[in-house]
Amino acid sequence: MPDGDQRWSAVDDYISDHLIGEDAIQQETLEANRKAGLPAIDVSAAQGKMLQLLAKGVGAKRILEIGTLGGYSTIWLARALPENGIVVTLELEESYAQIARTNISKAGLDDKVEIIVGEAIVTLSALDHKGTDPFDFVFIDADKQNYAPYLEHAIRLSRPGAMLLFDNVVREGEILNRDSDDPKVSGTRALYEVLHNHPKVDATAVQTVGSKKWDGFLLAITR
Ligand code: SAH
Ligand code: DHB
Ligand code: MG
Repeated sequence: MPDGDQRWSAVDDYISDHLIGEDAIQQETLEANRKAGLPAIDVSAAQGKMLQLLAKGVGAKRILEIGTLGGYSTIWLARALPENGIVVTLELEESYAQIARTNISKAGLDDKVEIIVGEAIVTLSALDHKGTDPFDFVFIDADKQNYAPYLEHAIRLSRPGAMLLFDNVVREGEILNRDSDDPKVSGTRALYEVLHNHPKVDATAVQTVGSKKWDGFLLAITR
């Protein structure tokens, strides 16, 4: 029996085998990302399917994602959409967006995904000013330094009752380290701070282990 992280990964495989099965499209996505040298920081298959089921569960027609990378989570989310639904996904790096476009295209989801390239703080403000239909579901997974401002943008851009989900809110327990000089940690801690008694959202966070080690998701519903 493997130990520690290996057991977490083995359980992820077990979950995948039973509840997800072969997914040639997403295997190709991960392979393309690996070949292009993208960091392997996409959600796991079990997490991706959870995103899909949550989005489907809230009947999401409009989904906003912050942090596309190679489009692995984007594809899971896009699969939750009904006819005419859309994922708007924000990515800083044009080269990543290019890979994501190819992956999304191969998955047959071109008409369900719009990628906007740029600093998300800027592209979110632009969406705000332009005025878009409200989002039903928001997945926040980009630079952790900006998690608190992303929360405020996400609230402004969504309908009441929308579901917001933040990735990587535990960071192997590092979020307890108030003196951390890692901006990813201080940025994530800033999110918890603003959520404490936040007037517009109700939130919780759940720790996870698996192939992506010890981390967690923060789930919020807007009022
Ligand atoms: N959601 C993806 C993983 C995203 S990794 C998945 O699970 O498959 C985080 C992504 O956020 C990276 O691609 C990174 O380039 C992007 N990112 C980092 N800073 C950003 C910023 N300021 N604006 C937009 N995207 C950013
Ligand atoms: C990092 C970012 C992620 O979104 C993730 O899931 C894991 C790690 C990172 O920037 O270190
Ligand atoms: Mg992440």
